[in-house]
Amino acid sequence: MTSIPESSASGLSAAGVSAEQTAREQELVETVVASFDAAPDERLKLVMQSLTRHLHAFVRDVRLTEEEWNVAIAFLTAAGHITDDRRQEFVLLSDVFGVSMQTVAVNNEAYGEATEATVFGPFFAEDAPLIENGGDITGGAPGQPCWVEGSVTDAEGHPLSGARIEVWEADENGFYDVQYGDDRVAGRAHLFTDENGDYRFWGLTPTPYPIPDDGPVGQLLAAVGRSPLRASHLHFMVSAEGCRTLVTHIFVAGDELLDRDSVFGVKESLIKQFEPQTADAPTPDGRDLAGSAWSRTRFDIVLAPVAVG
Ligand code: BEZ
Ligand code: FE
Repeated sequence: MTSIPESSASGLSAAGVSAEQTAREQELVETVVASFDAAPDERLKLVMQSLTRHLHAFVRDVRLTEEEWNVAIAFLTAAGHITDDRRQEFVLLSDVFGVSMQTVAVNNEAYGEATEATVFGPFFAEDAPLIENGGDITGGAPGQPCWVEGSVTDAEGHPLSGARIEVWEADENGFYDVQYGDDRVAGRAHLFTDENGDYRFWGLTPTPYPIPDDGPVGQLLAAVGRSPLRASHLHFMVSAEGCRTLVTHIFVAGDELLDRDSVFGVKESLIKQFEPQTADAPTPDGRDLAGSAWSRTRFDIVLAPVAVG
């Protein structure tokens, strides 16, 4: 297990804490850690003991005041109150701390050229409609049309035919369909790669939007001067037999939010060119876009084998 120094990581707390006080604090840590010794599940024991050490180290590091402890409890209580079947404030909290992304990193070990994973987010829906290859995921959602195409291969470069691709995205107003509070299904679909492992569909050119910021997590971001905005992106979840399921997004090259995504989801390898096209540029499938400018992008996806990570 990682050892946690008794002295301060910030340098704040060590000064002025007597040897007697330090010994008392450390004794409490060891007593609480030992209270988990008899846990029958070894993994649970490991997790709880490590969590105890880290939580106590934090309290001692910042010399947490009782007033601050009360604020923290009030914050968590408010997060609980706003959480329901549709709103998950605790996941948002994990997201803005980068803990969701760290968990993604730990669980998606790098493997050759395998496409990198990123945060799942709260707006996936299980029952998105099936579209044909080349179909339209927008369901009438407002925004600029975008042609998305690419391939799905395994880590050895073999095309994966029949791979399942789930895609979802916000509209140009910055909302996912599920945020409108009606029954609309828009900006999401699933499709399968063709016999060559290729896929293509019409979506929307991604635009930036804020994570839900009308709750305690939003207040926290405001208090620390951080923006709730996410860099423009399009979500993918890709699965194929024998391969590790990939949850990821692609981001838009040139987006000014790339280096300050509110949930730390951006990876260099996931930034793609979305090439702007004028209204009179011929579309790849001959579709008439009724005079709209559009964009196009390519995302070639490589899946790691299932046994890895
Ligand atoms: C999203 O990309 O949909 C998202 C991710 C994390 C928090 C909120 C939204
Ligand atoms: Fe999103």
